[in-house]
Amino acid sequence: MKIKSILKKLIKTILIQKKSLVKIKIRIQKNKNIKNGHYQLNNLFQISSLLKISLKKLTKKITKNMNLNKIIQKSVFSKPCFINIFLKINWIEKKVNKIFYTKKFNIKNKKNKKKIVVIDYSSPNMAKSMHVGHLRSTIIGDSTARIMEFIGYKVIRANHIGDFGNQFGMIIAYLKEIKKIKKIKKMSISKLEKIYCKAKKLNSQNQLFYKKTNKYTSKIQEKNKSCYKIWKYIVKLNLKKNEKIYKLLNITLKKKDIVGESFYQKMLPKITSDLIKKNIAVIKNKNIIIFLKNTKNRKGKKMGVIIKKNNGPFLYSAIDIACLKYRYKNLKANIILYYVDSRQKQHLSQVYQISKKAGYISNKLKVKHHIFGMMLSGKNRPFQTRSGNTIKLSKLLKESIIRAKNLILKKDKTINSKKLNTLSKIIGIGAIKYSDLSKNRITNYIFNWKNTLSFEGNTSLYIQYTYTRIQSILKNYKKNVLKLKKFFHISNNLETTLSIQILEFKETIYKASKKGQPHLICLYIYKLASNYSKFYEKYKILKEKNKNKKITRLKISFLTSKILKKGLNLLGIKVIKKM
Ligand code: ARG
Repeated sequence: MKIKSILKKLIKTILIQKKSLVKIKIRIQKNKNIKNGHYQLNNLFQISSLLKISLKKLTKKITKNMNLNKIIQKSVFSKPCFINIFLKINWIEKKVNKIFYTKKFNIKNKKNKKKIVVIDYSSPNMAKSMHVGHLRSTIIGDSTARIMEFIGYKVIRANHIGDFGNQFGMIIAYLKEIKKIKKIKKMSISKLEKIYCKAKKLNSQNQLFYKKTNKYTSKIQEKNKSCYKIWKYIVKLNLKKNEKIYKLLNITLKKKDIVGESFYQKMLPKITSDLIKKNIAVIKNKNIIIFLKNTKNRKGKKMGVIIKKNNGPFLYSAIDIACLKYRYKNLKANIILYYVDSRQKQHLSQVYQISKKAGYISNKLKVKHHIFGMMLSGKNRPFQTRSGNTIKLSKLLKESIIRAKNLILKKDKTINSKKLNTLSKIIGIGAIKYSDLSKNRITNYIFNWKNTLSFEGNTSLYIQYTYTRIQSILKNYKKNVLKLKKFFHISNNLETTLSIQILEFKETIYKASKKGQPHLICLYIYKLASNYSKFYEKYKILKEKNKNKKITRLKISFLTSKILKKGLNLLGIKVIKKM
């Protein structure tokens, strides 16, 4: 059910004749207080000037026609310039009751089935472990994948791991420098990471070392036996560690979804010569370079995108061009979404422009870079250790689990350890994920433990807690709720509010999918849970003597819990039966 769309359509047919060329946008909003109407049309003034009809005439036309419609109880003008819309209660009741008896949510769109969406997310660098900066791409991308799959898209998850660049050349060069290359298999992952950091520093300072880095990077790319073996070893080590993190984080990425940079290697020579042939790329100072109209450096001078260095390795841009081509031509993508740090905005836009110029992708392909802000600590500082280093993702997750454990122990000292471990994982991981997913991805946000693990407000704990409350009602009912009589009648305003919210589940999911913004689901389930809590505190459910009222309230409870569970599931967060 998409109530807003139904109302918009209805008003459009009232206002515009079929063949009219006028395009108007109808703005429908939910009313804060349903006593004034369930929804409101709030751009009446704009419509009146667009159609050149007086406000009075327009209002009359809309309300008169709307009131004839079978789903509208009444619509009335309200000052300063709104039309308040009341839906017919029995229409709401009928629709909610119908949802109650449908097994799944039945919200798939058949048209989506033919659409292939590639979602590029997580995609960490293989020379070091994931840090907190990887959290956003990983969990927002994963949630979007779940959401789009849920409404019927064919989703291809793509973990575009960084397994090709000069970081491996740096590590090899450094290990050779300190004569420890033979000891590599005895090194821990954190030791290797330290080596990478030192190598990176040296690489930026020392021209000779920089040349060596390029030499070894090329050697890996040419599959030189010993270098290739070392490269493979480092990648495997990091993959193993990441796999554990994905499992803990309840991320749906599997081994088969890993299609890293190295996969595109074999396509690069052909693409490069094709770009040169098409006069898109040129050779300058032995670099292969592409000049784009709107690519300028800070001084406003024309700047090129280098895709291959002077006798050296192919660069990041070359790989992304090949990757985009592959996703369009081979995977047959209709939509490609990148959940990549906003700092790569220019890079991705250049890749897109070049690919289009070369005819590797068509105009029909939708490519979107879904940017996200940073996770900050207090005082708007990056979320780092005191010495300014990045915090490892595994460390953050561990801390959250420990904090959840302490929280549980505060409430229940007698809990057995197996249960404690399972619960603290669900709660701790859920809290971290929810605290991030509930923020609009576009902006930075400040992370703090107190809000993350709070039972109040827009948090996972609050939603999980509300869910357990409903579960205990349903359990105490002792009979199968699904066998309840066909009856459903609303008897108070809170029941109306909850019923409308239940009907809004579908439109929320579609909006979150369209914008790639899971926080819309968080906001929705949070409002649903908080209205349910008010309802729970105000009205009797199991103890209600009037049989019909009891049926209605049980159905509302059941549907609310079903939506809360599904909502959390789309965010990749688990529920708990008892808390
Ligand atoms: N590996 C890159 C990084 O860590 C992210 C890759 C994003 N995806 C892409 N197709 N470029 O910054």
